[in-house]
Amino acid sequence: MTNTTNKTHHAAPASKANGNGKNAKANDSRLEEFFHEEIKDIYWAEKKLVQTLPKMAKAATGTDLKNAFTGHLEQTKEHVARLEKVFDLLGHKPQAKKCDAMEGITEEGASIIEDTEDGTSTRDVALILAGQKAEHYEIATYGGLAQIAATLGHNDVAKILETTLQEEKKTDAMLTQLAERRVNQDASEE
Ligand SMILES: [Fe+2]
Ligand SMILES: [Fe+2]
Repeated sequence: MTNTTNKTHHAAPASKANGNGKNAKANDSRLEEFFHEEIKDIYWAEKKLVQTLPKMAKAATGTDLKNAFTGHLEQTKEHVARLEKVFDLLGHKPQAKKCDAMEGITEEGASIIEDTEDGTSTRDVALILAGQKAEHYEIATYGGLAQIAATLGHNDVAKILETTLQEEKKTDAMLTQLAERRVNQDASEE
């Protein structure tokens, strides 16, 4: 004789009567968990870029490209801080989970530096290519995550992610400009 059913008050239909907000939350709990995991992933990726961008700036030949990487390093530190704010808003402690994609992209960047000659425009062409691969990964990630945040009703989080997304897009466009304006042509003459 087990009458445990009497004790399961969390299944009470009363919560349903409270409105659809509660229902939506229950339905979204898996998405909520997935979203949290993906925030950990991009947090790892941004921290990795904080370590990588100074190496890219150092390896760059042209001053404009050096400045582009140094400037984006400062932005990237801000991206890390914004994600810490996101964790806080979600009620979690900041936690990084290894991002295999960014690990691969930064490894490729390192091999590009090794494979090209110091002080050449070819080096810069390669660095721009590597940099843009990282930016495109970030753009895809922040675009998707901002959408999910909005779906989950985390509008404040969505706003933060959107702000970073715009900075990534600007950086990508700036790298394209650098390549088109001079670097690619210079390299073709080496
Ligand atoms: Fe970033
Ligand atoms: Fe970036």
